Amino acid sequence: MKNSEIIIVPSILSADFADLGTQIKLAEKGGADWIHVDVMDGNFVPNISIGPPVVKSIRRVTKLPLDTHLMVADADSYLEAFKEAGSNRLTVHVEACKHLNRTVERIKELGMSAGVTLNPATPAESLKEILSYVDLVLVMTVNPGFGGQKFIKSMVHKIREIHDMAASLNPDIYIEVDGGVDETNIASLVKAGANAFVAGNAIFGKKDIAGAVKGLRRAIKN
Ligand code: DX5
Ligand code: ZN
Repeated sequence: MKNSEIIIVPSILSADFADLGTQIKLAEKGGADWIHVDVMDGNFVPNISIGPPVVKSIRRVTKLPLDTHLMVADADSYLEAFKEAGSNRLTVHVEACKHLNRTVERIKELGMSAGVTLNPATPAESLKEILSYVDLVLVMTVNPGFGGQKFIKSMVHKIREIHDMAASLNPDIYIEVDGGVDETNIASLVKAGANAFVAGNAIFGKKDIAGAVKGLRRAIKN
């Protein structure tokens, strides 16, 4: 994999929404690389979160790339709105997109980086025909919908499988992990081939937000 840098991506789902700007700045101070924004529609996942207006506000407080994870049944209807709001990256679920290739091409046409993600029960093989079109695969290591859930350990083999597939199909890709990532498991995920890490509870659940970002990086080195 060419992308040997490690990307730390705080997920604002676990942040205090009344204090979002300050908390994002603390994460940035700790060395966060991107900011992860979880968009939920109460249909594809059993929870409702935020949409383009919040992305627009966040855009004003940080220059970090906004890594937007669409957990919605109808992603196609919202691609332009997220672009306008300031998203840099859009990641869509393979389970939700009827015409995944078309959706990915549209995201790129709009000038954003395109990612695809798969639920824990969706096999790595489902990525085979899309892998060369995207620059990121997001591996869900919890069932999407909520922060603070327990990491599903059996997903480590899927990270490895995707890493091996990408070695021939798209070696520059980011392999990002989402769900239950913390200081105890992040090093093993790097070993499995991941290079970008979403963390909600492990960052915004801590009193020292900047310190938590640093702690994740330290856990990889140790
Ligand atoms: C879950 C979301 C995650 C969530 C991760 O549906 O996609 O991004 O915020 O939170 P933690 O790191 O707490 O599992
Ligand atoms: Zn997410």
